[in-house]
Amino acid sequence: MAPGVIGANLENGTPNNRNRYRGQMKTFTRTIRTVSVALLLVGFLINCTEEPKGEQRLGQIQWPDDGTFETVADLETFVETNPLWKALESRFRDLIADLAKDPAGAGKYFDLHQWLPNSVARWATIKRYRPHLVTPDTTALDISTGFGYFPLAGKHLFGVKSIDATDAPGVRWSDLYDDVTHVFGIRKYELFVRKFEALDIRNDGRRYDIVTSYQMVFDVWNGIWGEQEWRFFLKDVRESLLNEGGAIVLGFNQRGDVGFMKWAKPLGAAYLGEKHRAVVIVPWEALERINERQE
Ligand SMILES: C[S@@+](CC[C@H](N)C(=O)[O-])C[C@H]1O[C@@H](n2cnc3c(N)ncnc32)[C@H](O)[C@@H]1O
Repeated sequence: MAPGVIGANLENGTPNNRNRYRGQMKTFTRTIRTVSVALLLVGFLINCTEEPKGEQRLGQIQWPDDGTFETVADLETFVETNPLWKALESRFRDLIADLAKDPAGAGKYFDLHQWLPNSVARWATIKRYRPHLVTPDTTALDISTGFGYFPLAGKHLFGVKSIDATDAPGVRWSDLYDDVTHVFGIRKYELFVRKFEALDIRNDGRRYDIVTSYQMVFDVWNGIWGEQEWRFFLKDVRESLLNEGGAIVLGFNQRGDVGFMKWAKPLGAAYLGEKHRAVVIVPWEALERINERQE
């Protein structure tokens, strides 16, 4: 083969071809080196501009020894004067400022004088109509917790033994919800509820006396749930999350209770308090009946 012809046999190649091969290898190595340095640089820049989750997590509020407060006002004062609450306000100042444009945005929840009493009223209703579900021995799980006032009130005003939170990961405002529940010191699990799918909650098999969910949207997002979707969900909650004798409390959004009660009331579901509040309890006996009819 003529010297310098590309395609020469490299094992038995001529010195000229070997040189060409070495040259190509050098260019290749240089390119790899340049690309790696560029990638490292981009990674470094991203790291500098994005807030790394985890390491920069705010701390948790140190609650008083017995953990409970006499009045809602006491709890409000304690929270709003805490430096960690102020740090949260500062972290989410853009969201709070956006309220002028979007009054429905999640920044509204920083008005704890409006929203904490709302959660207090929820616990008060459960306690009034089903006192055995709100005691110092009660363990509770709240599904789709959002900002975290409901678990906060349960723990620090109603003295329930424990209340865990859950929320769907990666949805709108989930960073805010994660940070707030963390600062409040509430144990939280990821839980994305999808119709006809078993609940995928990694909570070490914990079980609860009461499972709640208020103003949920999982039952309207992606198609409004009917009787079959609800039966699947309630059966799953009973089997995988509830202690024997436990109950589920649902605070419906958008009057979803109307269709729900058509089939669930005859089985033993009941309104808690005034009907217009759309808060429904599905006690253990009703859950057993739902199970029987499904099997
Ligand atoms: C209207 S907020 C209600 C929050 C809180 N329970 C309350 O009453 O203020 C709806 C909540 O549902 C959560 N969510 C949205 N889609 C969900 C899904 N598919 N599964 C579980 N939670 C979901 C949102 O992250 C948000 O926390």
